[in-house]
Amino acid sequence: MAKLKTLFFCRNCGSESSKWIGRCPSCGEWNTYVEEPAGKKNAQPIFEPEERPRPQKLEDISALNCLRIDTHNAELNRVLGGGLVPGSLVLLGGEPGIGKSTLALQVALQAPEATVLYVSGEESLQQIKMRAERISSHSSDCLFLNETSLESILVHCKEIKPALIFIDSIQTISTQSIDSSAGSVSQIKECTAALLRFAKTTHTSVFLIGHITKDGMLAGPKVLEHIVDAVLQFEGDHNHVYRILRSLKNRFGATSELGIFEMRSDGLREVANPSEMLITTNEEGLSGIGIGATIDGIRPFLIEVQALVSTAVYGTPQRSCTGFDGRRLNMLLAVLEKRAGFKLSAKDVFLNIAGGLKVDDPAIDLAVIAAIMSSNIDTPIRHLYCFSGEVGLSGEIRPVGRIEQRIYEAQKLGFTKIFIADANRKGISTKGLSIQVVFVGKVEHLIKALFNNE
Ligand code: TYD
Ligand code: MG
Repeated sequence: MAKLKTLFFCRNCGSESSKWIGRCPSCGEWNTYVEEPAGKKNAQPIFEPEERPRPQKLEDISALNCLRIDTHNAELNRVLGGGLVPGSLVLLGGEPGIGKSTLALQVALQAPEATVLYVSGEESLQQIKMRAERISSHSSDCLFLNETSLESILVHCKEIKPALIFIDSIQTISTQSIDSSAGSVSQIKECTAALLRFAKTTHTSVFLIGHITKDGMLAGPKVLEHIVDAVLQFEGDHNHVYRILRSLKNRFGATSELGIFEMRSDGLREVANPSEMLITTNEEGLSGIGIGATIDGIRPFLIEVQALVSTAVYGTPQRSCTGFDGRRLNMLLAVLEKRAGFKLSAKDVFLNIAGGLKVDDPAIDLAVIAAIMSSNIDTPIRHLYCFSGEVGLSGEIRPVGRIEQRIYEAQKLGFTKIFIADANRKGISTKGLSIQVVFVGKVEHLIKALFNNE
């Protein structure tokens, strides 16, 4: 019997090699090569358009299909850059259990007044029904299919002619033209390429769901990034209710857009104004709370930083952060020690960003410092004060980008005072603002302004 020919594929980026390699020369990841059967059984393409496309002049191309489809989900529309482009292939990636299927089903059920086909290779139709009942939004135009063979999916698509197709998930579907099993790199690549040809020639929009595991065991969406038109990543903390939908790649819009959802018992709810949920008003005057005005992507929002400073019981003080970079916290503590007489070695410091969000905007520094000092001296920061500024090593407060957007967001939410860097003074006009803008140049000035005039 002839020996089955095999090839090695990188699970991360999909590049191939005839022998096993420890480190992928293309993406640089270690130990990602897996052996898979090589070659196709038949050379027939899986999907062949009825007529061959002809070269056309720009003015001859109809603009009819350039209109975007409204998905009836404001957050998703925003991330897609204003709606779904007909004929586009969108990959929705995320860790298992984050809510990808829920989002897809919700969009499928609310979706446009066109036929929608929801293909699930993971859940049975009964399970989908149970989920749909939880979500409780119904559409009679949505058809469901439990299928894993790409060939039969395409046959149904040609018959039903849906305007929108959801595939949950790309790792479960397979084509007969390849020997390897579903979920392997070559299957995923081949199925996606066939779906892309289908989407482009029939102007059908296709949503693919793809899993990524923490250790990247399954062929990750990285393999598909080059093929698809848009890559959306669904992320969040399993223990919290907030989910963030980010666009990592988008051929038809900006990648800095961000959608925020709240996972509830009846599905995902769009969060139009995240700041309102992420901050408490702190009317009781609790110490250790500082509100920072940050920007993620292009979306400004206010976020609550909570700090707890207590006397260290053991010799080595503890530092613990959730949602914030631990090394950055250490740096800020060192600045506080030097500039504000904060006894670093005698204190345990715990820091938490409310809502389970992760912030890497340096503008949050000022709120972190304010929260730590507030907890340290057990004096609350005045109600309706907020902060936006980066802290430098010598204790200077550095300017941050798009400060006006941050100030407007704070004003919109009714804050009365915002502390920003002195160096931001030039770029902005405070005329007509109801919020008072306080310029501070150094950490010690901020602390004086906050706690010395009580
Ligand atoms: P799911 O969409 O199945 O995740 P994925 O497809 O990304 O693997 O979502 C699973 C989680 O969502 C599960 O832990 C339960 C939760 N959930 C809710 O909280 N409310 C709901 O209405 C639904 C349908 C799910
Ligand atoms: Mg799922």
